[in-house]
Amino acid sequence: MCGIVGAIADRDVVPVLIEGLKRLEYRGYDSSGIAVLDGDAIRRVRRTGRVAEMEGAAATEGFAATLGIGHTRWATHGGVTESNAHPHVSHGVALVHNGIIENHEQQRERLLALGYEFESQTDTEVIAHLIHYHLQGGGDLLTALQRTVKELTGAYALAVIGRSEPQRMVVARMGCPLLVGLGEGENFVASDVSAILQATRRVMFLEEGDTAELTRAGVRVFAADDAPVEREVRFSDVSLASLELGPYRHFMQKEIHEQPRALADTIEAAIDAGGFPAALFGADAGAVLKDIEGVQILACGTSYYAGLTARYWIEAIAGLPCSVEIASEYRYRAACANPRHLIVTISQSGETLDTMEALKYAKALGHAHTLSICNVPESAIPRASELVCYTRAGAEIGVASTKAFTTQLAALFQLTVVLGKLHGRIDAALEADYLEQLRHLPGSVQHVLNLEPQIVAWAERFAGKSNALFLGRGLHYPIALEGALKLKEISYIHAEAYPAGELKHGPLALVDAEMPVVVIAPNDSLLEKVKSNMQEVRARGGELFVFADQDSNFSASDGVHVIRTPRHAGVLSPVLHTLPVQLLAYHTALARGTDVDKPRNLAKSVTVE
Ligand code: G6P
Repeated sequence: MCGIVGAIADRDVVPVLIEGLKRLEYRGYDSSGIAVLDGDAIRRVRRTGRVAEMEGAAATEGFAATLGIGHTRWATHGGVTESNAHPHVSHGVALVHNGIIENHEQQRERLLALGYEFESQTDTEVIAHLIHYHLQGGGDLLTALQRTVKELTGAYALAVIGRSEPQRMVVARMGCPLLVGLGEGENFVASDVSAILQATRRVMFLEEGDTAELTRAGVRVFAADDAPVEREVRFSDVSLASLELGPYRHFMQKEIHEQPRALADTIEAAIDAGGFPAALFGADAGAVLKDIEGVQILACGTSYYAGLTARYWIEAIAGLPCSVEIASEYRYRAACANPRHLIVTISQSGETLDTMEALKYAKALGHAHTLSICNVPESAIPRASELVCYTRAGAEIGVASTKAFTTQLAALFQLTVVLGKLHGRIDAALEADYLEQLRHLPGSVQHVLNLEPQIVAWAERFAGKSNALFLGRGLHYPIALEGALKLKEISYIHAEAYPAGELKHGPLALVDAEMPVVVIAPNDSLLEKVKSNMQEVRARGGELFVFADQDSNFSASDGVHVIRTPRHAGVLSPVLHTLPVQLLAYHTALARGTDVDKPRNLAKSVTVE
């Protein structure tokens, strides 16, 4: 999605802006631009395509300045064109914007009547004109911004510079993340801390409705009522190494290989505690989690599949009813809310608009208790939740989620055991057993990674296919869904997943020699059923690619290929079976030569509907 970076300093800030935009590239975008104050003129460069193209144009035109703003855009209102790219300018005011202004049409009518002309189809351009309009009415840039945001409905993070005010930048936030970075004699603003880590680690997260003024010497923040307010200064511990590729070819590959460490970090607190205290989810979690009668999970994309997996655990292990729903559906449905059901949102970014809105909707329906599972500290969804569990996957750059997913599963398993204990389903011996299984998880995952060469060989066969089916049952059905999603996201091969028992009700009609069928077939209570479903495929000439356990008793034969994970991992088996499907998608995409980390049309963080 869109990204913002801005800087005010005594040095040339253009390299800071460009570097920041490159750090934001992973979030998905289609065009980029910067605007700087050069003498008493605003200069701007914008390009569609990669940041590198815009960087080249800025270099050719000799951009250098001590005050500037930059933006990566992911088109919502108006196509991917240079004139729709940010920054937008109105008579010496330049701004960048993340989010969506819902009343932009009314504001556009009003501004047209006042004689303003528009050069883009964006909702953003109205903000630039409104700020100029309020500047004309008297007052400075900050006052004009504060007046403007009171006339906007919708979501925004804004960074604004003005020709008349070379000593400052003003910013505002509502519904979209924005943070200020504090340097020595220089200050920064960004939508994501990764954009400014090169310059500073001292950050201040702005709150909803805040506006702020950044000068070289300092930062002043104002609450929604324009009264001065203090916001806490924190030290970001996001590691620069997590933002670098290192020896890997793609971030996705790196992140797949980081899973043993990411899982170990995510379960560390439980291991240290020697069990599953409710405090893993916050100081007040015990009372809240004991009081609930069921769980409603809300999420999108890969996070939704983590939720689907958790449903099997929560119902079977904790004995609580659990529903899982795609956030964008839930938020527009007249749902029958049970206020004693815990709302669990799952979001690696913590920013996904549909998930955020679903959470607000659930609260409006009367749900009293909310819990967020998230990978990004201080992001919007955990901040709006009563209880929080942060996964510790580290920054995930590849658009296709990998380590965020498996760490979500680890967090959800811990939630399951906490709930099971509080609801009398798990005694001390069983708790110790689950802890032992969790303790072995990072090591087992490492073993699965060793299967990579075998999976590469499969990927070469997949690369020439146009379609693929993924089958799983029970706990592993969501992993089949995740495998199909990964494959289609990054290799652009059409892939669908079905519960294996559903094959005969439709998808079997698609099976022929050209249809590879991936089967997740661990040695669990459904294995014999899965084997029967595989026979249905073989009988129609379909080629089977089976991920089994060492003890599943499968042997490869004509049209049946088998890769065995080291051992059956009990209830945690879905985590282990995720890695092979991630690797299959990755190597298939590699063989097809797609842009693995930035698949076409997709974004890492989806802050629009
Ligand atoms: C986008 C990403 C997916 C992610 C989904 C939900 O589609 O490309 O990888 O699963 O958003 O994102 P969230 O941050 O809420 O987990």
